[in-house]
Amino acid sequence: MLRRRAERMYDEDLDLSEPIAWESEEERQAAIAFFNAAFRAEESGLMQAHALADEVGRWDPELGECLRLYGDEEGWHRRLLTRFLAHLGGEVRPMGRVTGTFYRLYGRAKKVETIVLTNLMFETIGSTTYRLALREARHPAVRQMLTILTRDESFHVPLNVHFLREALKRSPPSMRPRLRAIHAALFAALLASAAASRRRALAFDRIPFRTLAGAYAEHLGRLFVHESDLDFTPPELLLRLFGHSRRALASSEDPSAVSVLSAEAAVDRERVVVTALGGAAAPAAGASGGATAPR
Ligand SMILES: [Fe+2]
Ligand SMILES: [Fe+2]
Repeated sequence: MLRRRAERMYDEDLDLSEPIAWESEEERQAAIAFFNAAFRAEESGLMQAHALADEVGRWDPELGECLRLYGDEEGWHRRLLTRFLAHLGGEVRPMGRVTGTFYRLYGRAKKVETIVLTNLMFETIGSTTYRLALREARHPAVRQMLTILTRDESFHVPLNVHFLREALKRSPPSMRPRLRAIHAALFAALLASAAASRRRALAFDRIPFRTLAGAYAEHLGRLFVHESDLDFTPPELLLRLFGHSRRALASSEDPSAVSVLSAEAAVDRERVVVTALGGAAAPAAGASGGATAPR
């Protein structure tokens, strides 16, 4: 699937023919901050994926190729975002203190399973943010940029679930306590990061803190509750803080927007729904993730 996506990836282009009519300079600055954060996420995803591709490729060449192609997708996003930032009259800026610390710590992670777990959680946050921002976006160019990101990141979440499963197979049991601690710490840190991003990006994406942090709790929680074989337990206290619980997330029929099912809908750029068995089916109504039909 990744190979097929790669064949078509570069045909898609941003339509930047119309200047964006901002409501205020504040909104434009917030948009620049928003897409700078996106740029950094893509950049770090690209670096880590390619570093892993080399390492993993030594024991599993096919998985290594998956990681390389996945990194290439993030590299393509990074290029699109560089052009898009210029279109906004902005540029790639040095990272702030909080963001810098985040990525420095992440960049220091060396174990495959640690990197993949962190990446999976980052991807979940990323796709959730893009989907919510798309719901509010009005400018066509902004909508196009967010649609591409939402669609592709929705595919990257289950892809990373797959990477994590493979990495855990080779991970010694002695790593478990450390991975659990990382999962719990990241869960809290990512919810808190919603507060930091509100200071900079709220005037653009218009997502209030409670909505964003609540969506992070819901989607991270739902992911780990449903992919229970990974054996990570979302912190109940944090879920409760935003009106969720492990039990409710587990029993809910509503498939997560970052579920494997939604991702299969987002997998193909022509939006042909490919079933888990590999057969192609007709596009299902409303099955294109949040990308084209934000709720
Ligand atoms: Fe990306
Ligand atoms: Fe991604």
